[in-house]
Amino acid sequence: MKNYQIESLPDYFKQYKKSIKNPKKFWDKIADDNFVWYQKWEKVVKYDMREAKIEWFINAKLNMTKNCIDRHLLNRSNKNAIIFEPNDPNEAVQYITYQELHERVCKFANVLRDQGIQKGDRVCIYLPMVPELAISMLACARIGAIHSVVFAGFSSSAIAARINDCESKMVITSNGSFRGDKTINLKALVDEALEKTHTVEKVLLVKRTDIEVPVKEGRDQWIAPLLEKASADCVPEIMDAEDPLFILYTSGSTGKPKGMLHTTAGYMVYTAYTFKNVFNYQENDIFWCTADIGWITGHSYILYGPLLNGATTVIFEGVPSYPQPDRFWEVIDKHKVTQFYTAPTAIRALAKEDTKWVDEHDLSSLKVIGSVGEPINDEAWHWYNDHVGRKKCPIVDTWWQTETGGILISPIPFVTPTKPTYATLPLPGIQPVLLNDKRIEIIGNQTTGNLCIRYPWPGIARSIWGDHQRYIETYFSAYPGKYFTGDGALRDEVGYYRITGRVDDVIIVSGHNLGTAPIEDSINEHPAVAESAIVGYPHDIKGNALYGFVMLKDIGESRDKDNLRKEINQIITEQIGPIAKLDKIQFVSGLPKTRSGKIMRRILRKIAEGAFDQFGDTSTLLNPEVVEEIKEGKL
Ligand code: PRX
Repeated sequence: MKNYQIESLPDYFKQYKKSIKNPKKFWDKIADDNFVWYQKWEKVVKYDMREAKIEWFINAKLNMTKNCIDRHLLNRSNKNAIIFEPNDPNEAVQYITYQELHERVCKFANVLRDQGIQKGDRVCIYLPMVPELAISMLACARIGAIHSVVFAGFSSSAIAARINDCESKMVITSNGSFRGDKTINLKALVDEALEKTHTVEKVLLVKRTDIEVPVKEGRDQWIAPLLEKASADCVPEIMDAEDPLFILYTSGSTGKPKGMLHTTAGYMVYTAYTFKNVFNYQENDIFWCTADIGWITGHSYILYGPLLNGATTVIFEGVPSYPQPDRFWEVIDKHKVTQFYTAPTAIRALAKEDTKWVDEHDLSSLKVIGSVGEPINDEAWHWYNDHVGRKKCPIVDTWWQTETGGILISPIPFVTPTKPTYATLPLPGIQPVLLNDKRIEIIGNQTTGNLCIRYPWPGIARSIWGDHQRYIETYFSAYPGKYFTGDGALRDEVGYYRITGRVDDVIIVSGHNLGTAPIEDSINEHPAVAESAIVGYPHDIKGNALYGFVMLKDIGESRDKDNLRKEINQIITEQIGPIAKLDKIQFVSGLPKTRSGKIMRRILRKIAEGAFDQFGDTSTLLNPEVVEEIKEGKL
């Protein structure tokens, strides 16, 4: 990125003012100076926030992979694009240069074309954190196919739902994955999913483990022999700025998962710009984001943001605790990582270990450390600052969402003074506003409200795949004319933002967004269950854990309740995945409801927290006796 590093606090304010006063000019220059285009735009932005119609760089033509790879071949062909750190520390590290990445992406893209994938087709990618995951995404982008990556911890039903929703034509998966001391057969889950789908014509298989898997004639093929034969020359598809780049599913507070649709040019410009500034990226840095590529953090800051800047990005296959709780620190030392980006849940888990695990490693290569995915509590912030950053690395507490494409609120390292638990100030181009429940904007500082954004930025999602109306209703209706984030926030005396958490029925467990409705729907499928309600409650490591209040059809004493609890969690694991399992299940004879029949989750949340004296206004409660009973059951 040319000349767009924010240098100082006055410079930040100057850039910020410019970006708000004239967003078109601001983004026009960034896009013009830093990317390769087949054709420039006619207009920078066109938007209607009520209809949620947002377009950036109108009529520009480009290809994402030309920007991520080809243009670096001139000066960085032998530079590492990817460092692959396998699950097993004894397995060899793979270093993939920009030159090699170019070759592997082109070959992969040619295989996709040979297998009938064309511009606009959806390709579901269900892979562990191996280089082929990044390569297959880039291969899709090369030929204009839309990737839909499904996190490899999701169940077969979740895969099927995502394949069906966007009508994927192909699945790319592997025979298995390694996570810590576990080996998981991913192909078996895909096979199960494909029994419930009808759009997938081809399955490509990456060999990662020694697990033997069935290969269905005419549908499944190992990718290796196809790659061997493929040409390393692949003409990129010329894409329109607003052509879809990918779909990524995120949980909603209601109904089925939402396929957030991101398009090409705006997402490219925004992830590249934010990567450069939020991580103070410099040419020889080694950047490591520990998220899974199956989440937006991985899309934007393992893959696209770093490669757009010609950076070296680490892909780590394993888990922080394997083989020992110092794996993160060992990897930082081994690869001389300069920026380390992780989640509060991982920090809290590692902070529980003996400090010798971290203190004994040389972490002097680190310059900037980051946090993402959920609010970072004060204790975790200080532990991170003291033991990992060693009080010399600024912590960037980055607030953003799948929907926003890139980071919106974050300190700029070495520029913005940090404040524990605060994401601090909006990045240039971002106009946060706080609104109260009466939809009135709250002006001034030292206040709290519902967090909205006033003006579009290039990285914002453009729609929900196949359901634009739902996109409008979810994000643009509560506060007409503004994007509603679903988060509450506090603004302090100097204008710093602290995100206080979700204000809807999404619960963030270990940094994963989980909508309560889909979990309740799956529990309710158990033949013994009449109704259920899920709430979150504070948890030491996960941030929040899930508490289920379950009403049985027949509360008969004879039932084995522990067995029922197991069955309920089994259903959740099958339908969503183990990340959505409930930590606590309480059987109840009824759920507290309003007179209009709505479950009063506020009361259930307080019961789950053990705050029995903080129920607030219960005047609309239809069945107070149920609350008493649930309280007693808990005590
Ligand atoms: O509640 C906010 C929380 O994570 C939500 C977005 O989740 P997801 O779409 O899965 O994306 C996560 C990674 C970008 C937000 O609505 N969240 C994310 N980052 C932070 C955060 N909450 C507090 N502080 C953060 N830094």
